This record gives sequence, C-alpha cells and structure tokens, in this order.
Amino acid sequence: NRFHRESLAAGHSQQWIEQMSRNIIHDLNVYGICVIDNFLGKEKGDTILKEVKGMYVTGLFQKGQLVSTKAPMISQSIRGDHVTWVDGSEPYCETINYLMEILDRVISCCNGMPNNGLFSKYKLCKRTQAMVACYPGKGTHYVKHVDNPNQDGRCITSIYYLNKGWNVKENGGLLRMFPAGHANQVVDIEPIFDRILFFWSDRRNPHEVQPAHAIRFAITVWYFDLEERNQALLRFQEKKTAQHARSQIH
Ligand code: OGA
Ligand code: OGA
Ligand code: MN
Repeated sequence: NRFHRESLAAGHSQQWIEQMSRNIIHDLNVYGICVIDNFLGKEKGDTILKEVKGMYVTGLFQKGQLVSTKAPMISQSIRGDHVTWVDGSEPYCETINYLMEILDRVISCCNGMPNNGLFSKYKLCKRTQAMVACYPGKGTHYVKHVDNPNQDGRCITSIYYLNKGWNVKENGGLLRMFPAGHANQVVDIEPIFDRILFFWSDRRNPHEVQPAHAIRFAITVWYFDLEERNQALLRFQEKKTAQHARSQIH
C-alpha cells in the first residue's frame, strides 16, 4: 500500500518529528492521505488504550452528534459512534495529552517546513480538542461523509487508532476513503493499534466507517487553518446576531 509508512524511531526527538513531518508533507501532497504505523510505540499506545477504556467504563461517552441537529434516531443511523471530548488537561488522560502534544509538534513542523507544497497555503495554528470515539460493535457505522464540506475551518483530520488484533473479516470497521479525482479508486484503512492517519478534511476526502462488529476505539484531532477558521467564526457570529435580532422582533 503506497500510502503506508512505518514510523522510524521509538523516541520523539526533534529529528523524529521532522522525519514524520516530511512523510506527511509528501503523502498529503501526492495522495491527500498519510498512514503511519507504530506511531507512539507499544508502551504509550497501551497506556492511551487504558485511559480510553477507563473513560468508557466510567460512562463519559455520549452518542455522536451531527453538526446539523437531526433527531436522535436519524443521527444514529448516520453515525453510530459514542464520543467524549477531552482537552488533555484532565487527570485521567495524561497520555492522550502526550499524543496531542506530539501531533501539535508534527503539524506545526509541517507548517514551517520549506517546500511544503500545499501546506504553504495554510496556517495551522489551532486545533479542536481530542474526540475519543467508540463504535460499540453491533454493526455501528458512519455513512459516507466529508468532515468539512462547508469551510468551517478544519483543514487536517488526524486519527489515532487503538484496536489490538483487529480482524477486518470478522470485525469489519474499515475506514474507506473515496479520494476525489480518483473516481474508481478507494483506499481502505484498517483501524489497527498505534496507527495514525492524516488527511485533508475538505471535499478532497469523502470517507465512511463500515459497520463494526466489535468495540472500535479511535482518537481524532482536527487542525484548523487560521484564515478559514476566522472567516467561519465571523459567519457563525453574524448568524447568531441575526437570529437574536429576529427573536427581538417576534
Ligand atoms: C489515488 C491516488 C495518486 C497517485 O489513486 O487514490 O491518490 O499518485 N493516486 O497515483
Ligand atoms: C469521523 C470519522 C473515521 C474513523 O469521526 O468523522 O470519519 O475511522 N471517523 O473513525
Ligand atoms: Mn469523518
């Protein structure tokens, strides 16, 4: 699989960060998608999995929401995951915080690297919190969608997978990507333990999560382009002001 890369070193020196960034820059420029395996190493991956399972059994997860509010029954037929958001400062997700710090360093390195091609169009300096997601088996899925179809500011999607011994034949749960401009080609990504995935969040990368038949965990962080995000926030603000004005009239 030409999208697929092995992470080179277990440690996370600046040199390692730069190597990762070069891989990501290359693959996002050529394919729009980059997959790296053994990203944090077994030990860190194990600890993150422990933290995620801890949050799950504590009941912190809620059904995934759609941006446009739809009735819960409809929402669940579109996306069947349960999610919880963390900013990393919570006491029970130290290692998730470590992952977010590594991602921040890698993405900011991509941003500042010379000859970074498409990256030079963006200023990646803000991100969402981490969305910790669980598909609880039973055929739960997420239908084909684009993360950011309407310029909400999200530029890069990064997803870290946590599933040991995942067997696609039995467990399903593939991420299938439909890269725009490659009408007859799909890219299937298995959600395996310690794998990280990066892709452009916009219409270049429609994707779906196929029905999962076992518990499937992943952590997603979206990186914003500063300019697009500021424009989006302005639009949201204008909308709110207009709604407020209307509610004053009625
Ligand atoms: C694809 C793709 C790029 C290439 O087919 O999905 O990204 O260089 N191709 O072939
Ligand atoms: C999403 C999504 C993919 C995955 O949450 O928007 O597409 O592989 N997730 O979990
Ligand atoms: Mn998505």
